[in-house]
Amino acid sequence: MKKTPIDQQLVDQNIAKLKIDHIGQASIREIVALVNLIEEGGSDKFVRMEMGVPGLPPAAVGTKAEIEALESGVASKYPMMDGIKPLKNEAARFVKSFMNVDVEPAGCIPTVGSMQGTYAALLVASNVHPEKDTALFIDPGFPVQKQQMLVMGHKYETFDVFNYRGAKLREKLESILAKGNINSLIYSNPNNPSWICFTEEELQTIGELADKYDVIVMEDLAYFAMDFRKDLYTPGKPPYQSTVARYTDNYILFISSSKIFSYAGQRCGIMIISDALYQREYENLKVRFQSNTFGNTITLRVLYALSSGTSHSAQFALAAMFKAASDGQFNFVEDVKEYGDKARIMKELFQKYGFYIVYEKDGDELIGDGFYFTIGYPKMTGEELLGNLLYYGISAIALKNTGSEKEGLRACVSHVNRNQFDDLETRLKQFAKDFPVD
Ligand SMILES: Cc1ncc(COP(=O)(O)O)c(C=O)c1O
Repeated sequence: MKKTPIDQQLVDQNIAKLKIDHIGQASIREIVALVNLIEEGGSDKFVRMEMGVPGLPPAAVGTKAEIEALESGVASKYPMMDGIKPLKNEAARFVKSFMNVDVEPAGCIPTVGSMQGTYAALLVASNVHPEKDTALFIDPGFPVQKQQMLVMGHKYETFDVFNYRGAKLREKLESILAKGNINSLIYSNPNNPSWICFTEEELQTIGELADKYDVIVMEDLAYFAMDFRKDLYTPGKPPYQSTVARYTDNYILFISSSKIFSYAGQRCGIMIISDALYQREYENLKVRFQSNTFGNTITLRVLYALSSGTSHSAQFALAAMFKAASDGQFNFVEDVKEYGDKARIMKELFQKYGFYIVYEKDGDELIGDGFYFTIGYPKMTGEELLGNLLYYGISAIALKNTGSEKEGLRACVSHVNRNQFDDLETRLKQFAKDFPVD
């Protein structure tokens, strides 16, 4: 056995201890637990790329507003189910400032993180038509949303978009939507895990087909404005965050505060339901939820039942962050550009030592550098690659866990410190030597 930076026995023992049968199928949490155990067992520090959590301090404008709200006594009061007015107004303004999309404040509804937003939306969408009982995930995607479907017991279909970019997307989507059983279509943009961003042509296709087949598009913007190839921070001026909302009225957008404002701990995001969808009445919602419109079903039935609103003080934080951003006082994009800078350096290092970027392009353009990137290594499956990299003190998650059909790994840059780049290079160099590509 070759000597590797991390004791192989220590790795293997802990894999066995956690009863992980296939490392390639291990969840993010399992990899986190595994690496914690290996590090506690005395190994050198890992270059940890498995966790998709913010690596920056929370936006100060949010923290300040939240402290002020708490000091003013909001903690004792239930917030309105559909959100406090200042947040609803500022959310609509934020969407106008950075997406150039018009939406009424009524449809801007805070949720306990985007996670709760997608849960509520997928639940209601699964009940709009009796015959439309299936959601469609454009993969690769965020595994927890499929877990939500599992918990709810609702059906979903999925396909890996890798081979269906550009003009090919239309045919692929039509082949699925034409069956008539799809109620909603969901994807993240920029995408977790691959960091691809749909082109305008692709978003237009999605929007047009959503109208043609009467399907609700759920656009998860957890990484809003983080396509750093363009500077998306100039309130009220292009370039704007790309969105399907330009091409259909049948949409829900999810804007999470977790990554763009590093505000994950307070669990407060916002869902933006288009005016048309918010007001739309569905016969089956009356039967299923004794409710009328889509908007009322979300707020007065589902969110009421789930958590009766969202943390009162955190709503003030989010309102303040949106306001400061729209006022031109808070360049949140600049604050998170560090992720892109680190990704550029790390991608170069991986490529220097024989790795390749799996999801590489949007149309003719190379993907941007951001929160995640994907890596593959010649003649290794994702599972083999992950298993081997653990011996070199590098952790990530297998792409197969995300609905991808490609062999490779998702790497997240947020928890890698710049002072680990030398270690990363040394380890990759040895990896390349031990696994020559020829
Ligand atoms: C694509 C995507 N959607 C949603 C979330 C969760 O967002 P929140 O923390 O607002 O619940 C994440 C977090 O990793 C994500 O990557």
